[in-house]
Amino acid sequence: MILRQAVTADPAFEFAADVRAGLLLRGQKELPSKYLYDEVGSALFEVISALPEYGLTRADERLLRMHAAGIVARLNSPLVVAELGSGSGKKTRYLLEALDRGEHTRYCPIEISHAALTMCARELGDIEHISIVGFEREYLDGLREVAAHRRPGEQLLVLFLGSTIGNFDRPADVTFLRSVRNTLQTGDALLLGTDLLKPIPQLLDAYDDALGVTAAFNLNLLARINRELGGNFRLSDFEHEARFNPKTRSVEMHLRSKHAQTVHITRAGLSVRLEEGETIWTESSHKYSPSELLQLAMAAGFRFQGQWTDQEWPFAETLLVAE
Ligand SMILES: C[S@@+](CC[C@H](N)C(=O)[O-])C[C@H]1O[C@@H](n2cnc3c(N)ncnc32)[C@H](O)[C@@H]1O
Repeated sequence: MILRQAVTADPAFEFAADVRAGLLLRGQKELPSKYLYDEVGSALFEVISALPEYGLTRADERLLRMHAAGIVARLNSPLVVAELGSGSGKKTRYLLEALDRGEHTRYCPIEISHAALTMCARELGDIEHISIVGFEREYLDGLREVAAHRRPGEQLLVLFLGSTIGNFDRPADVTFLRSVRNTLQTGDALLLGTDLLKPIPQLLDAYDDALGVTAAFNLNLLARINRELGGNFRLSDFEHEARFNPKTRSVEMHLRSKHAQTVHITRAGLSVRLEEGETIWTESSHKYSPSELLQLAMAAGFRFQGQWTDQEWPFAETLLVAE
């Protein structure tokens, strides 16, 4: 894999600034979900993907396995593929293998997690007609760079799988997809994998598994602050909580303070007081209906090309084309 890393901002400085801003909020304290994915977080997310309660990844994978040929048949040639937040890229293999159309294809995973990019290169590095160019970047920075280096006549296919779009609040999801659209040329494609609404107990189990892996994934954010920013969070003083918010149709992950406490974070220059029962909101996963997805896509400047849904775990793969 060729790896392109960001050379500008100091990541620790940005992390400290975001932690400061989120923990100093007057009402609900927050931490951005992107910081869940350091080396430990990315490894834990891989385990979550295999848990019986987390049917989402298996549904996404089933759809790609069953329909890769049909999806690829709707795309042009030559093609360059960019994947936003690829993670390990395991299920992307089905699409990349289906792209064997007698020519070489560049696959560009865009990830803030170095560990995820390393896993991705290991996972997909053996596909003969694919060359991997990894971008250790934020989604849009990476996508702009891929778009800037495309060759004349190449169609750009953007993959945004695993329902990661659900981490954006409504209507920030439309705003984000519009920015993706504005980076593309007319005729480029976006394949969006999204989790659909389902019974609340099933959703809550998916984000609060019996083994406690999702709890560890969530608590690792505090451990990461301790490791990288000199925080003194005692993990045993917090507990993981998943709750469904009916107004936003999302599952929220929180970290609940078990008692009143003050935490110090040296490299963020911060002391923060948490009351008993107070929570830090770490992630939202919004759930969609198939028709809402079409409205979302249209509002962002895309035209509908095809949709495939999984019945076992309601999930949709939607192929869109930039208008
Ligand atoms: C929910 S995981 C999904 C991984 C994979 N796409 C899948 O379907 O299993 C989200 C991934 O996006 C990455 N990520 C989160 N925020 C990001 C950002 N702002 N820019 C780039 N990557 C990001 C994380 O490191 C993580 O690997």
